[in-house]
Amino acid sequence: MTIETELKRGEMFYEGKAKQLFATSDPDLIIAYFKDDATAFNAKKRGSIEGKGAVNNRVSQLFFGLLESEGIRTHFVKRLNEREMLCRRLQIIPVEVVIRNIVAGSMAKRLGRVEGEVLSRPVVEWYYKSDALDDPLINDDHAEVFGWATAQELARLRELAHKINRVLSNFLNHRDIILVDAKFEFGRYHDEILLGDEICPDTCRFWDKATRAKLDKDRFRRDLGGVEQAYQEVLQRVSR
Ligand code: TMP
Repeated sequence: MTIETELKRGEMFYEGKAKQLFATSDPDLIIAYFKDDATAFNAKKRGSIEGKGAVNNRVSQLFFGLLESEGIRTHFVKRLNEREMLCRRLQIIPVEVVIRNIVAGSMAKRLGRVEGEVLSRPVVEWYYKSDALDDPLINDDHAEVFGWATAQELARLRELAHKINRVLSNFLNHRDIILVDAKFEFGRYHDEILLGDEICPDTCRFWDKATRAKLDKDRFRRDLGGVEQAYQEVLQRVSR
């Protein structure tokens, strides 16, 4: 059987705010379809960003390829078309990993810090992946006691988050982009933990190095205008 015949899109088994996931005839593989739908504040704000799905698919593929070349294992298998990516099927760990280099967003609000404060070292935070609860901030004890991740897994997630942050920050710096913060999701795949989900302007904060202009979803969240242009700008810079 050729790989193309194996890749028939099967049942949609999950629909998130930005992606649909489809089964394939191989139980280890899924197809991710990237939508233009955009939400913020746990879907209290809804809209659409034209071309976002194509940009996020492309940018994520580029980052996954880069990370793989640095020895970080990801769910990415191959690009299928403008909006679809073939991925390994993970058992998602329900702990969203945020790593921050500069204060912004919820950290500024929660801790009363000024957006733009450069942290003396990257800070890792865990959030419990639950739409019903608005993804609350949690600590190691919560994750372990409620069985969301083991202590060993948390240690591995922390180590991977720092490594991914270093690789991405360095790559983006050469393209005049500051990686302010990022959110990663990981999953179990046989005996490994792989990086999953997507890495794109929806899930990271990107600031222009010279002007600190926002080149990410904060343009949508905060009604700053120029949303589509910002996504295209990121795509252009990371593609060069
Ligand atoms: P925050 O400052 O709002 O907590 O966001 C931290 C990072 O996580 C930021 O790069 C955006 C990303 N993020 C998501 O990917 N999904 C979400 O639902 C939220 C709230 C943030």
